[in-house]
Amino acid sequence: MGALKLDNVVKTYANGHQAMKGISLDINEGEFLVLVGPSGCGKSTTLRSIAGLESITSGEIHIADERVDELPPAKRDIAMVFQNYALYPHMTVYNNMAYGLKNRGYSAADIAEKVNAAAKMLELTDYLQRKPGQLSGGQRQRVAMGRAMVRQPKLFLFDEPLSNLDASLRLQMRLEIKRLQRSLGTTSVFVTHDQVEAMTLADRLVIMNKGEIEQVGTPKEVYHKPQTTFVAKFLGSPAMNLLPATLVGKNQLKLDDGQLIAIPDQEDAVQDGQRLYLGLRPENVSLTNEGNGLINFVAKVSEELGATQLLHGEVANTPFSLNLSQFDQHETEHFSLTFDPQQIHLFDYETGERVNA
Ligand SMILES: Nc1ncnc2c1ncn2[C@@H]1O[C@H](COP(=O)(O)OP(=O)(O)O)[C@@H](O)[C@H]1O
Ligand SMILES: [Mg+2]
Repeated sequence: MGALKLDNVVKTYANGHQAMKGISLDINEGEFLVLVGPSGCGKSTTLRSIAGLESITSGEIHIADERVDELPPAKRDIAMVFQNYALYPHMTVYNNMAYGLKNRGYSAADIAEKVNAAAKMLELTDYLQRKPGQLSGGQRQRVAMGRAMVRQPKLFLFDEPLSNLDASLRLQMRLEIKRLQRSLGTTSVFVTHDQVEAMTLADRLVIMNKGEIEQVGTPKEVYHKPQTTFVAKFLGSPAMNLLPATLVGKNQLKLDDGQLIAIPDQEDAVQDGQRLYLGLRPENVSLTNEGNGLINFVAKVSEELGATQLLHGEVANTPFSLNLSQFDQHETEHFSLTFDPQQIHLFDYETGERVNA
């Protein structure tokens, strides 16, 4: 039995909008699961439904062995951390962290022990008597974490908790959340629209699109074997290049300007004449002067990133980017590309579904 299970959950809002279109998920004990997807895809709705802040329209939600979708939020043994921290401004840090425990009738001594232990882990010991207004954004975020931790819930839910922080603090808090979650071992569901945050934090990622799950997998699985063009484009920066093409026989692709590219033999899943997208990640392509099965590339703009350079241009009139360790300016803008044949991604043109192994 998993720690959290969603079974075909549908959420239709009063205005008729279907924000969850049958979401099923099985989350393991102690797992750090990240829900990621563009704004409006239903991440917060999913989290709020788990917490009981939204009622669901159909389906079931189970925590450990218990069905909880009919239970009020307070009975679900969950702690949630929000983007806006939701701290009480008139209370000290100590009382903000103690609040949930007082409500649950813990003794003063118990409360002091739990709050002091959490404050120590979060390096908030010196700030316990301050009010939230006297803290930095990162410290407020830590107080919100502390308030969740002291309750030792079955489940942590995080809704974009780092979005209000500046870049360096976001990185620092990201590492801290990961470290805390590891040491506490509490099953966690973390929502973000930020693909880097998602990739770095997750044991497993759930990529959502328009109220549906596109793919579930480890960061490596979803990056290296995206099952749809949506996932392929969503993860990675610059995004994966997707070239419209037609399969010729079993091992050639014809791009829309007529050039032919050799690819490894394709088995049953694809047929001669099938319309596809050829997906190539910017870091899996290099410039060359020699070899067979090359792709013609027209360079337009290069961007210096320090360690690497991005080169943007076109292949068969489709935008195409490369990530190169070195690129020296040339007289010409016409180049040939090679690619690692093991690192190609093929998607059906109509459905966007992956068709190669
Ligand atoms: N209370 C509501 N009533 C109607 N539609 C809503 C409500 N809350 C959210 N939505 C809609 O449901 C969709 C999913 O919203 P949300 O779960 O907040 O997405 P995300 O967190 O991924 O940005 C959006 O189209 C949003 O406009
Ligand atoms: Mg949201």
